[in-house]
Amino acid sequence: MSGLACVVLAAGKGTRMRSAQPKVLHPLAGRPMVEHVLANVRALAPERTVLVIGPELEAAASGLEGGDGGVACAMQREPLGTAHAVAQTRPLLEDYGGDVIVVYADTPLVRAETLGRLVRARREGEAAAAVLGFRPEDPAEYGRLILSPDGTLARIVEHAEASADQRAVTLCNAGMMAIDGRRLFPLLDAIGNGNAKGEYYLTDLPAIVAAEGGACAVAEAPAEEVMGINDRAQLAAAERVVQNRLRRAAMEGGTTLIDPATVWLSADTRLGCDVTIGPNVAIGPGVVVEDGAEIRPFSHLEGVRVRRNAIIGPFARLRPGSDIGEGARVGNFVEVKNSAVDRGAKINHLSYVGDAGVGAGANLGAGTITCNYDGYRKSRTEIGAGAFIGSNTALVAPVTVGPGAVVGAGSVITEDVEADAIAVARGEQRQREGAAARRRERRRDGGTKD
Ligand code: UD1
Ligand code: MG
Repeated sequence: MSGLACVVLAAGKGTRMRSAQPKVLHPLAGRPMVEHVLANVRALAPERTVLVIGPELEAAASGLEGGDGGVACAMQREPLGTAHAVAQTRPLLEDYGGDVIVVYADTPLVRAETLGRLVRARREGEAAAAVLGFRPEDPAEYGRLILSPDGTLARIVEHAEASADQRAVTLCNAGMMAIDGRRLFPLLDAIGNGNAKGEYYLTDLPAIVAAEGGACAVAEAPAEEVMGINDRAQLAAAERVVQNRLRRAAMEGGTTLIDPATVWLSADTRLGCDVTIGPNVAIGPGVVVEDGAEIRPFSHLEGVRVRRNAIIGPFARLRPGSDIGEGARVGNFVEVKNSAVDRGAKINHLSYVGDAGVGAGANLGAGTITCNYDGYRKSRTEIGAGAFIGSNTALVAPVTVGPGAVVGAGSVITEDVEADAIAVARGEQRQREGAAARRRERRRDGGTKD
């Protein structure tokens, strides 16, 4: 959309979250709320984007995806209200003649096409501003849109200021506004703070336009898209909406979700074609699952690439820095961290593989443990292609098992094993012939000693 600048307000205190962390950094699908908003805004390709932050967001702002690459920040030192927040963009936008669209960082579910509709409503009505309204199931503490008898917007009344009659109005303020850039700052200058909270409300803008003889346009949005997040219950409700969108997109992209409602995805999850995900799987940030792979029930993945046709789980845990090769298998109660498991390798039961390389076709028996941490530092384990590690083996890193080598079950391997060698490192088995039978005899005599 051309002729557009965006202002994202993220400087509020967020007191209702009761959190040490700024509200807009709370994640949805593993990505901070404000990043969702910046992504929505980016889809409109605005000429300028300004993020209004408070001091507590200063450190985090440069790390935000939108923190560089075209997103400027304006600082609101004190949260004196939404109009005051927009006013902080004056040095960056005062010369801007296009539409300025204001969005709230605590309203992250709005789609770019809805924002587009809002801008078109302003332009078509040649209004000073257009406001996005919606009809929530529970209007709760939202501002109410008060219409004139002719159907135009007379003003917005904040919940705290509203009379019982006004609270009965079901058309609410979603918080998003498109404003004619040439009129924005003069209108902001006219907004005062004589209200219950002593704040400069952006929502006073339509009444000022009306007093000047104009009217603001209204566009309506689906309630699901514009729910604001002020507390943890609303955060959870928004998470559900985001998850449903991600699940739908995954299925549209060719992934089978056997029981979609129980699969938790991240905003950046990338799933290939003909991937199957079983019930109760959680996928954290940074996961790529390639075509044909299967993630069986109750698995937890984070920061991992699962290559074509690999089979994960049930009950597997894949942690960051891992790369599971084509056709490889990671089975039940196996944890893999920061490790490359090459094509066709098998780690099927009860293992911990951390800071390791597992060569193609290697087989790790049940209970194989890489002892990667000595209490001071982490060390690597390298297991060559085609190696066979017997069950219940401890590989004390740093250590290397060469390609094609075999390690006997129950070994504690502290020294490198050469390629194609057999290594056994456990107590030797001793056997006393007939000893068990003699012991039974003694017991039968009523003796107390063996
Ligand atoms: C606001 C609207 C309300 C609307 C609701 C929709 C106002 C006065 N009220 O209420 O009409 O129904 O959103 O969700 O606008 N912020 C700042 N600086 C400030 C204050 C807030 O940057 O000084 C930011 C916050 O970080 C937040 C957004 O503005 O992202 C909205 O602030 P919030 O306090 O959540 O307003 P609501 O009470 O939800
Ligand atoms: Mg809010």
